[in-house]
Amino acid sequence: MEIARSIAEFRALRATVPTLGLVPTMGFLHEGHLSLVRRARSECGAAAATIFVNPTQFAANEDFSSYPRALERDLDLLRAEGCAFAFVPSGPEVMYPAGFDTRIEIGGVTGMLEGAVRPGHFDGVATVVAKLLNITQPTRAYFGQKDAQQCVVVRKLVRDLDMPVEIVVCRTVRTEDGLAMSSRNAYLSPPERQAALVVIRALRAAEADFTAGQRDAGALRATMREVLSGEALAAIDYVSAAHPETLAELDEVGAEGALLSLAVRIGKTRLLDNLVLGL
Ligand code: PAF
Repeated sequence: MEIARSIAEFRALRATVPTLGLVPTMGFLHEGHLSLVRRARSECGAAAATIFVNPTQFAANEDFSSYPRALERDLDLLRAEGCAFAFVPSGPEVMYPAGFDTRIEIGGVTGMLEGAVRPGHFDGVATVVAKLLNITQPTRAYFGQKDAQQCVVVRKLVRDLDMPVEIVVCRTVRTEDGLAMSSRNAYLSPPERQAALVVIRALRAAEADFTAGQRDAGALRATMREVLSGEALAAIDYVSAAHPETLAELDEVGAEGALLSLAVRIGKTRLLDNLVLGL
């Protein structure tokens, strides 16, 4: 695997392959990321991953400085998956040089859910993803469904700015007991790790209600809240049953289905997860 530490180095590598599948990451890779690399490789021939903990998507009170980092281990994992290239900016100044003064703000789908709890977060995500796509020029870019709102935002970014890349959203990878893979799971103590299973229990309870015929979105949200409130270690940030594309909260689940999503804090760890309901 070739490792580029600068934009020029990556561009030289990019020129050597006709099609490229990109997996943008902030590192501390897990099976979810690796499944994206495998898919990128199988669909595009060559895969590239980016590893950059993007400061502009973290608020001042968030975990930017403590975000888990394990670069050498990440590079070994990518090599083992046959990833062709890694773009690992040698420092934040590669992405944000002196005088950098541009910010992409996406309307409509960023005011709710994560965007309501983390103001400015999606401006940081949209800006860095636009830069990463411009730098790496992939044929397709792969994102995990676990960050459902991020997927909606990135799709809109690419559509609104006519970026010549296909965005591929891949299913959430879970541990055997149902916890969605996330780099932040590393923060959980053993009792918190056990408590975190309430997240998938809440989502599956609402999904079971839906399967049994419940179409009242308020009732689905109430089911998730009820299950979550049974876990003393879980503090709810939000529960949502929203339109899968506009992310507007639904009164009733219609033909377009719904995105059930939630965010909870377990100790100091914030966990997100979601399930898509289809008709
Ligand atoms: O999902 C992530 O890891 C990040 O938000 C991304 C897409 C790499 C942008 O920094």
